Amino acid sequence: MEEKEYIYIVKQQNEIRRCKIGITNNLERGLSQYNGTGISKDNQFVYLFTAEVKDSHKLENAVKDNFRRLREVKTAEIYFYNSDLFQEYVDFIKSHSGFVIEIPCEVKDNIKEVLVYKSDKKSLMERSVSRKDIMQTAQKTQNDEFYTRYEDIEKETACYGKSIWKKKVVFCNCDDPIDSDSEDERKSSAFTLFFIKNFNKLKLKKLICLHYTGGIDLFGAGGRTYIFTKDGFEEKKDCPKNFSGSFDDPLSIKILSEEADIVCTNPPFSKAADYWRLLIESGKKFLIISNFSNAVTPAFIPYLRQGLVWTGYNRVDWFLDPKRQPVMAPGFWYTNLPRKNRYNAKKIVNLKDIPENCKYFDDNETLCVDRCWIPANYGKPFAVSAYPILKGILELGYEIISDKQYFPYKNGKRKFGRCLIRKKKSV
Ligand SMILES: C[S@@+](CC[C@H](N)C(=O)[O-])C[C@H]1O[C@@H](n2cnc3c(N)ncnc32)[C@H](O)[C@@H]1O
Repeated sequence: MEEKEYIYIVKQQNEIRRCKIGITNNLERGLSQYNGTGISKDNQFVYLFTAEVKDSHKLENAVKDNFRRLREVKTAEIYFYNSDLFQEYVDFIKSHSGFVIEIPCEVKDNIKEVLVYKSDKKSLMERSVSRKDIMQTAQKTQNDEFYTRYEDIEKETACYGKSIWKKKVVFCNCDDPIDSDSEDERKSSAFTLFFIKNFNKLKLKKLICLHYTGGIDLFGAGGRTYIFTKDGFEEKKDCPKNFSGSFDDPLSIKILSEEADIVCTNPPFSKAADYWRLLIESGKKFLIISNFSNAVTPAFIPYLRQGLVWTGYNRVDWFLDPKRQPVMAPGFWYTNLPRKNRYNAKKIVNLKDIPENCKYFDDNETLCVDRCWIPANYGKPFAVSAYPILKGILELGYEIISDKQYFPYKNGKRKFGRCLIRKKKSV
């Protein structure tokens, strides 16, 4: 009788970042070989997926070719693991012509379902949520652990075209490929996942991600760098000694200045000022998420005024908390990558045509305009909220005239902080 052939995905219970993809003629024997001497009871190998196949060597090689970037450089069968990638491995095997039938493996039911927040396409209006609500929620939640949703990264990156990534080294310097401190990948970064998944499509040269120890390295795990290239992945642990994985660690700064072409991440909101300073000083290209109010915040206004940063295309209102629950926070994409202007030109009109409820002169006789209305025929400085700046008014012949925040007073009452802009003289 012809011997049956199988392909399997196996993982050690405590090894959260790696799995093995291999072939065998005997599934039982295969597993017992892995769990031979020296493997402790609580760290046994378990099958995550098993299937009968035809021409197992051909299929194994196809897996290798298709997922080379996720294969550990120095080892044969070891692949980078997280639950999304596991699904990719399974889907690939099942769609291959050599696939015969999946063999249910006991442990499969025990695999912890990682809760993935499914995109809720409802608009803010449909949710009866105002921007003020978002601000208030975010102010209450002084928390850096806001994780970016995969779909927000997909949506923004799609606006720039694939060619900007070609042969580039992408550095995600606040992004753990997988949360190494817990079993359930809650903190694993969607930026990493996005670039791993699209590595070939974007023709990336390299992806480098950092595992940050959190400042206090209780378990001595050390900071780590994860490097993905077309030839495989490498995890570099605690190298050099005491590497914290922080974006401002000397090694991270070295990677930033010597290797990175494009930095792409959502850095911690609380460290945004330091993060921006370091990033902009590096002179590297970037696409990052930051608070939408940066456009009217003194620490950031100078960068926008000098044209060192501009905004991307989309706002980001929803993030995931460490429990994968959606949370609101007012985010926006910031970049120095070329992008097309997208200001609604219909909102740039003569002062008299701006609706009365969207313009006023404050106690100082300074014009204040709202809802993205912009006077086309007004030579003096006027005050705007963050929105016109986020929407790209600075690329349409207007300039910020002060690095300070401007607070209008109306009948002696202080209003929200704004930014003073003016139509450029030469335009
Ligand atoms: C706003 S969260 C975003 C995480 C991830 N970039 C994403 O978009 O889902 C910021 C992350 O930066 C991490 N972090 C905080 N301080 C850091 C530092 N100094 N260096 C690198 N990462 C840091 C936090 O632990 C947190 O996971």
